[in-house]
Amino acid sequence: MQESDREIVLDALSIHERVVQMGQAISRDYATGNLLVIGVLKGAFVFMADLIRAIDIPLVVDFIQVSSYGHASSSSGDIIVRSKPTIAVQDYDLLLVEDIIDSGLTLQWLSNHFISQGARSVKICALIDKAERRAHQVQLDYCGFSVPDGFLVGYGLDFNEQYRHLPAIYHLKTPV
Ligand code: IMP
Ligand code: MG
Repeated sequence: MQESDREIVLDALSIHERVVQMGQAISRDYATGNLLVIGVLKGAFVFMADLIRAIDIPLVVDFIQVSSYGHASSSSGDIIVRSKPTIAVQDYDLLLVEDIIDSGLTLQWLSNHFISQGARSVKICALIDKAERRAHQVQLDYCGFSVPDGFLVGYGLDFNEQYRHLPAIYHLKTPV
């Protein structure tokens, strides 16, 4: 990615400050809960690493990896689970952590999946919300930033597996 192909959207300090606020809100809300934080791989791993260190109540962590074959314009889509969590979700208050929510398909499917598995409660936390693109109804309980449409990379977000390591988030001007 050339400097000219990208435009900064969220710098590292702004991300850090917002993630700390989100961690504090989660700590308050789950003070009497039994918190299991499940990250959606791969994109959420950087955000989740920072988020859990901003939470000061007991918690356990796990991950799920999924692939989506849905289309934002259709009302249904298929999700394939590539890798499952190892912790049984029963008796836990689940917090699903995602990098970015676009059509909503992935999180709608995951939320229903974990409710049907017997989780005590399921809430959703996403760093970035592309609300304009929502095709599937989901309740976003914790949202870091809302952005307009556009393809973003960095801080875990990839384009063809590249750019996840960048400490800030950029708009990729020519993703294809
Ligand atoms: P959804 O199921 O349509 O909400 O898609 C969410 C997933 O698509 C995210 O977990 C990302 O992996 C990917 N995604 C959506 N928008 C972007 C983006 O702007 N940059 C990188 N990945 C994205
Ligand atoms: Mg993702």
